[in-house]
Amino acid sequence: MNSGGSFFCSSIGRKILMAVSGLMLIGFVVGHLVGNLQVFQGPEHLNGYAEFLHTMGPMLWVARIGVVAAVLVHVWAATVLTLENRAARGPEVYGFKHTIQATLASRSMRITGYIVGAFLLYHLAHFTWGLAQVDTFKDSLKEYPLATDYRVAGFVAVKAGTITKDVYNMVVLGFQNVFVSGFYIVAVGLLSFHLVHGFDSMFQTFGLRSGRWARGLRLVSILFCTVYFLGNLAMPAAVLLGKLQPHTPAVAAAHK
Ligand code: HEM
Repeated sequence: MNSGGSFFCSSIGRKILMAVSGLMLIGFVVGHLVGNLQVFQGPEHLNGYAEFLHTMGPMLWVARIGVVAAVLVHVWAATVLTLENRAARGPEVYGFKHTIQATLASRSMRITGYIVGAFLLYHLAHFTWGLAQVDTFKDSLKEYPLATDYRVAGFVAVKAGTITKDVYNMVVLGFQNVFVSGFYIVAVGLLSFHLVHGFDSMFQTFGLRSGRWARGLRLVSILFCTVYFLGNLAMPAAVLLGKLQPHTPAVAAAHK
């Protein structure tokens, strides 16, 4: 085997793959949150943004393939490392569990990972493939002409009058269902929890978690994950509290 191959088949190689793929996924979820928060600026912004992403064509596909590849690498590396650790520990003696130094976040990495994976499949079925949407508003969501230009850094990215998918109504009507909102809130809560330990492990792998930095980095990770959670919570919570309403009266009435 060449040196590159043996590096990535080694335990440290897999840890690096896990940290790098995790970093890519963090980049995706943070970018996704920042984009989604445009729901608070109104339908023109969110629908314009979604249309802008779709006009990126091949670039969008490169990003999508990158995210799928990062998910696959992350899951593969996590599985192999877990099996290796288990084999290295050997059988547990007299019921002694090797979790004394482990935190709740670190011990629950596998279960939070599975639940976030299940959420992701549901989320794609709900918003991307439209499979899990309520029939009463499915048809109303297809066409929506932008009333104003959508701008990126001052430049017109999508012109007024362009027919777009009505992502704004899709999100608001989706979150009006308390069970849908509840599942989103639980899933992003678990994802945020997963990220707390993820950051710790990543810093450890990159050799940044030395004594002097460890506490500070942990505080920054916890702060980051809390802000991330609150940002995601804000959307379903605003819908359930009636702060965000469907913008097309006919659709809103049909859905009541
Ligand atoms: C309240 C939280 C969230 C909202 C409002 C939201 C909203 C959306 C919407 C509207 C779409 C479809 C965009 C379109 O078809 O144009 C989408 C796609 C997607 N979301 Fe989310 N999302 C949320 C949280 C998350 C989280 C936490 C993850 C990751 C774990 C995630 C991962 C994805 C992925 C992978 C796609 C597919 C992107 C693509 O088609 O290229 N989302 N989301």
